[in-house]
Amino acid sequence: MKRHLLSMNDLDKQDILTILDTAESMHDVQRREVKKLPTLRGRTVVNLFFEDSTRTRSSFEIAGKWLSADVINISGKGSSTSKGESLRDTVRTVAAMGVDGFVIRHSASGAAHQVSQWVDAVVINAGDGLHEHPTQALLDAYSMRQRLGDLEGLRVAIVGDLTHSRVLRSNLICLKTLGAHVTVVAPPTLMPSGIETWAQSEGFDTSYDLDAVLPTADAVMMLRVQRERMSGGFFPTAREYTVGYGLTADRLRSLQKHTVICHPGPMNRGLEITAEAADAAQSLILDQVSAGVAVRMSVLYHLFAGEGSLA
Ligand code: NCD
Repeated sequence: MKRHLLSMNDLDKQDILTILDTAESMHDVQRREVKKLPTLRGRTVVNLFFEDSTRTRSSFEIAGKWLSADVINISGKGSSTSKGESLRDTVRTVAAMGVDGFVIRHSASGAAHQVSQWVDAVVINAGDGLHEHPTQALLDAYSMRQRLGDLEGLRVAIVGDLTHSRVLRSNLICLKTLGAHVTVVAPPTLMPSGIETWAQSEGFDTSYDLDAVLPTADAVMMLRVQRERMSGGFFPTAREYTVGYGLTADRLRSLQKHTVICHPGPMNRGLEITAEAADAAQSLILDQVSAGVAVRMSVLYHLFAGEGSLA
């Protein structure tokens, strides 16, 4: 395994399977009364979040704590970056305190990669702009595998705001590596430019017609409409978006019985997904949250204490 986790491209198929297998044993800790393993005792991990987050940040924090690491949280808003300090100076300042790792979320694509060049510590990308969010793809794969078994040959539809989604980019790499077949679905205004070339080279399909794709999918991953990254009008009204691309109660009925529903959260209930779909028995959304802790424990373990790590 490589030293940092900046992109899903840092992991080959064996690495991914190793992380998912370890996550399975880590998942047991969640069900114990005493949720503590001594594995990372004496290590210090800094969560450096320059964008808002509920599940990613807290699950990295819980994961680190359950492995007995010391975990520090720094957010953009409360730190000296709001006084004008550069990202480089901020991370080098924190690194100088002797920390072992950074988990970083930033609005700039490539930020985690940059940080890995500036510090000696291990760097984990927790979302960089529109680029990648590798641990999200790993927990998505973990959740789908738990419910559906091996992902080889699985048909996955990824639906919604593709243009602004780092979750999409990491999932395309992860799912392809694991042998799943992906179809991405979005209105034309939310299809990334150049998607056709990308789809051809990476071997996935594209569609504007959600109703045509749903009945054959084994897993449907709904992506959030990321209004905070939109400057202009990407669709006329919320209602029109839901009619064309929302996972509504009617569309829920068009799914096969075994088909699972994923969403990385946070959800816009009533926009890209209705309550019926979000709370259906087929929904994996809370399983994904639970898997997030186990997968992040596994990633921390492999990068800090696993074989071949610098530890
Ligand atoms: C995703 C993110 O931040 O990229 N959320 C998450 O990490 N759970 C997706 C999103 O914000 O829509």
